[in-house]
Amino acid sequence: MTNEQYHEFIQSYEDAKQILLTRLDVLNHNLYGESSSKPIHHIQHRIKKKKSLEEKLKKKGKEPSVMNAKDYLQDIAGIRVICYFVDDIYNLVEILKSQSDLIMIRERDYIAEPKPNGYRSYHVIVGVPVYCLDGMEYFPVEIQFRTMSMDFWASMEHRISYKKEIEDRELLAAELREYANMLVEIEKRFEQHNEQHRYKGYQE
Ligand code: GTP
Ligand code: MG
Repeated sequence: MTNEQYHEFIQSYEDAKQILLTRLDVLNHNLYGESSSKPIHHIQHRIKKKKSLEEKLKKKGKEPSVMNAKDYLQDIAGIRVICYFVDDIYNLVEILKSQSDLIMIRERDYIAEPKPNGYRSYHVIVGVPVYCLDGMEYFPVEIQFRTMSMDFWASMEHRISYKKEIEDRELLAAELREYANMLVEIEKRFEQHNEQHRYKGYQE
């Protein structure tokens, strides 16, 4: 695909991402009330670069065309929401799911069921309605919800595992799983200080 095709193609994904960022911002203010603490620590977002879009299509055995990107890739627009507590993640996901104009395309709970390597996060792919002159169309946006400790682990794992020469991959994998378990324990201890959690508990 040409540079021009790429830029034209990603515009709607950019728009869909912007719509979701605004929704998340509103939820961050409102979820527990204006005067309470907020669920979100920070948000990162990106649009897949032309090069990695083409590489991913090639890896899937597809021609790197705009048509194939639209048909086969659901993470062209990506948002990473870094929360304080696991509860914050489930609360945010639940509210997003109740917003009836959005469609849930895919949902993966790697918190309840972490990946074998220790990776934890809650992934959703949301279809966001984007209105233009021709009418409305849904565009997918991948949202990864993480706590700070999940994000710490995933960022370190990403950084370390991409190194080419690793002497003992098995040893490193075991070490990373151990760190993941340690972080779950630390997170549980912090949970005991989660006011939102206790507040909800009293209401039940
Ligand atoms: P992709 O082809 O990578 O998109 O995988 P998938 O379609 O099976 O989706 P999945 O939900 O497993 O992962 C999507 C994204 O989550 C990845 O692009 C990463 O950003 C993140 N991710 C998944 N697994 C790991 C992991 O083991 N380590 C790290 N650091 N990130 C991960
Ligand atoms: Mg991906």
